Amino acid sequence: MSTVKTVDPEISPDPALSPQVLRFPAGFHWGTATSSFQIEGAAELRAPSIWDDFCRVPGTIADGSDGLVAVDHYHRYREDVALMASLGMDTYRFSVSWPRVLDPDGSTNAEGLGFYDALVDELCQAGIRPWLTLYHWDLPSYLPGGWLNRDTASAFVDYALRVHAVLGDRVRVWTTLNEPWCASFLSFAGGAHAPGHTVPAEAYTAGHHLLLGHGWATQALRAADPSATLGLTLNFTPAHPAEPTDPDDLSVVRRIDGTAHRFFTDSVFRGEYPGDVVRDAGASWPSGLVHDGDMAAIATPFDVLGVNYYTSQLIRAGAPSEAPTPHPAAPDAVEVPRPALPRTDMGWEVTPDAFRDLLVHLHENYTGPSGVRLAITENGCAIDDPDPAQGPIDDVRRIEYLATHLRAVHQAIEAGAAIDTYLAWSLIDNFEWAFGYQKRFGLVAVDPDLNRLPKASAHWYGEVARTDTLCVPQAH
Ligand code: FCB
Repeated sequence: MSTVKTVDPEISPDPALSPQVLRFPAGFHWGTATSSFQIEGAAELRAPSIWDDFCRVPGTIADGSDGLVAVDHYHRYREDVALMASLGMDTYRFSVSWPRVLDPDGSTNAEGLGFYDALVDELCQAGIRPWLTLYHWDLPSYLPGGWLNRDTASAFVDYALRVHAVLGDRVRVWTTLNEPWCASFLSFAGGAHAPGHTVPAEAYTAGHHLLLGHGWATQALRAADPSATLGLTLNFTPAHPAEPTDPDDLSVVRRIDGTAHRFFTDSVFRGEYPGDVVRDAGASWPSGLVHDGDMAAIATPFDVLGVNYYTSQLIRAGAPSEAPTPHPAAPDAVEVPRPALPRTDMGWEVTPDAFRDLLVHLHENYTGPSGVRLAITENGCAIDDPDPAQGPIDDVRRIEYLATHLRAVHQAIEAGAAIDTYLAWSLIDNFEWAFGYQKRFGLVAVDPDLNRLPKASAHWYGEVARTDTLCVPQAH
């Protein structure tokens, strides 16, 4: 008798086409992320930041916009928190605006700090865990020299402690810095972010001072609050060689990885700047930059590494370019497009497998051996959504992006990575830095009257969060 069973295609569809259902571990945290300058507005109630100054320079912001009103979260935070709660979110990552809470004369701005006090109360009442980032790029303009000045790292510690003194009883997760690479290399060598400089030596200086601020603030917060969860958020854009055996392609990829990633990971986890990074910087490495004790401070242990991930790149070595670059050691880098891959409205290729590989790499080489947890503190995509006036936004491409990247997170967890939180960027369409309001990353749209209009992705993501279950079509 034959043991071969016949399969009725009506009731047993091809397994390759049936959706994959993935369960996340019980207790997994789901939420969204934003930052102060990108959403708050109410600029007249705070001191200016370097981003206010940068927006005033003609040609820096694609649509000529600024953060003066943004999406008016300062006045609408109650509505925004209610929206998060209705979507089933249990965590909200926001940042505090330093120039809103500390005035130019060094005194605390009670109204400014009071805003965050009220926001945190609102979150707690809604059952949402507040996840606070102290620095998401809106440095007060009044600090002389900004991050080029070592004193800014000390000023950051004072600011951190003053915020903690008021919010520390309810905020239990503290991130010192968001993406210090953007605040140093992209801002001081690439010229694309405030303050818009194009001097490679300044990028190393700013990067070191940012890391010093992180290390010193981590020490101070730990002493003030031993049971707080402390962390740092880094951005990762893995670079892969166009020809995996070509020594020039391998070299340029190593140099990009050096300043974009290892400058930060090796300093905070291993207490050193990698030798090749210092060598590649050559004359751009500022003499006297690193003082005795700096590296030990930068390597102060912390609890959670936040990972911000959007895309990866294929890179080949080309002719060195004279144009400003955020990769000062890799002027010969040329991106090789991969036409077969979908792209977001930023022009970024959609590469979820590189996300999984990155998380496993970080777990195996950095966080795992240090007993540090990983959290996804940003992931998402800009999509050229239709005008909200035309009716509900059915952003299927955003849903696909989120689904495939969440599957990558699930795969990394199965491979052993200690990840317990995923925060989508972003809750709401907002000021996307040098791109102004033209690039829309939100799960929620905003109309010209600043009404909040959840997109299909918001409802989809809410269902994932409420059920801890992800359904990915196999074809993806
Ligand atoms: C990250 C930033 C965030 C947002 C996203 C799209 O680099 O941290 O503020 O702009 O990119």
